[in-house]
Amino acid sequence: MRQTIAVANQKGGVGKTTTTFHLARAAVRAGRRVLAVDLDPQGTLTYMIARDDLPEDALGVADVLSARTEDTLADVIVEGVWDGVDVAPTTGESLGIVREELVTAGAGREHRLREAIAALDGGYDLVLIDCPPSLDQLTINGLVAADGVVIVTQSKQASINGLVKLNDTISIVRKSYRPELTIAGVLVNQHEQTTVSGQTWLEELRTNMAIIEPPIPKAVVLSDAAEASVGLDEYGTRTGRRLAETFDTYLTTIEEAVR
Ligand SMILES: Nc1ncnc2c1ncn2[C@@H]1O[C@H](COP(=O)(O)OP(=O)(O)OP(=O)(O)O)[C@@H](O)[C@H]1O
Ligand SMILES: [Mg+2]
Repeated sequence: MRQTIAVANQKGGVGKTTTTFHLARAAVRAGRRVLAVDLDPQGTLTYMIARDDLPEDALGVADVLSARTEDTLADVIVEGVWDGVDVAPTTGESLGIVREELVTAGAGREHRLREAIAALDGGYDLVLIDCPPSLDQLTINGLVAADGVVIVTQSKQASINGLVKLNDTISIVRKSYRPELTIAGVLVNQHEQTTVSGQTWLEELRTNMAIIEPPIPKAVVLSDAAEASVGLDEYGTRTGRRLAETFDTYLTTIEEAVR
């Protein structure tokens, strides 16, 4: 059975895209057939995970979501950097424009990505959706399309307010559009184990939410590998191989949480 996981947080730069990239690699390592969906107008995931450089006007997620175009996901999908991963890409300005179109679109706008994924024929075991840093119609489309959401956050007190807001949005999505949506867990990124405030913050969070353990450390290999479009296990360092195994356990935890 296919599982669809959205990676979300309206806060920018917390590590959503980096995490999506490494989760995709973990899934490929586990033999899954993966579709990575780039739901962020910035197109960062596409840049990392698409096999070829794509032109700015390449077909992409925007053409799937827009009511002005007829394209299906199958029409826009391109090959990813590893065998076993395909990409629904985002390039240029088009998804930013469709974001505006969705603001004024009529009934059913929240379901467009969900319906597009449902129309895909079999072949994919896992669909990973990288959401933009906003609580807009794009993120709503990502959540409505998903069986589970992985929340990526950083270990800072200031992030708590953002998590509350995101939780509220998830509750609204459940109530109005997608009752089955589960929170697969919270991935705490760039965790600073050494600081007392970091530990206190984490303990507090653990009492309120399902944390996917262990927290992701701050490690240059996580950014360097993703920016080089290379898996952690392929990067050639011991830290990389160790973190690849950590991402394998994250994937297992997430898949079990939404099963
Ligand atoms: N654990 C980590 N250790 C070191 N660097 C990291 C880690 N996680 C993310 N980064 C770096 O932090 C920056 C932000 O990460 P990323 O782009 O994944 O965040 P994002 O939440 O997707 O951002 P946006 O909200 O803009 O889409 C990137 O430069 C990335 O390489
Ligand atoms: Mg991102």
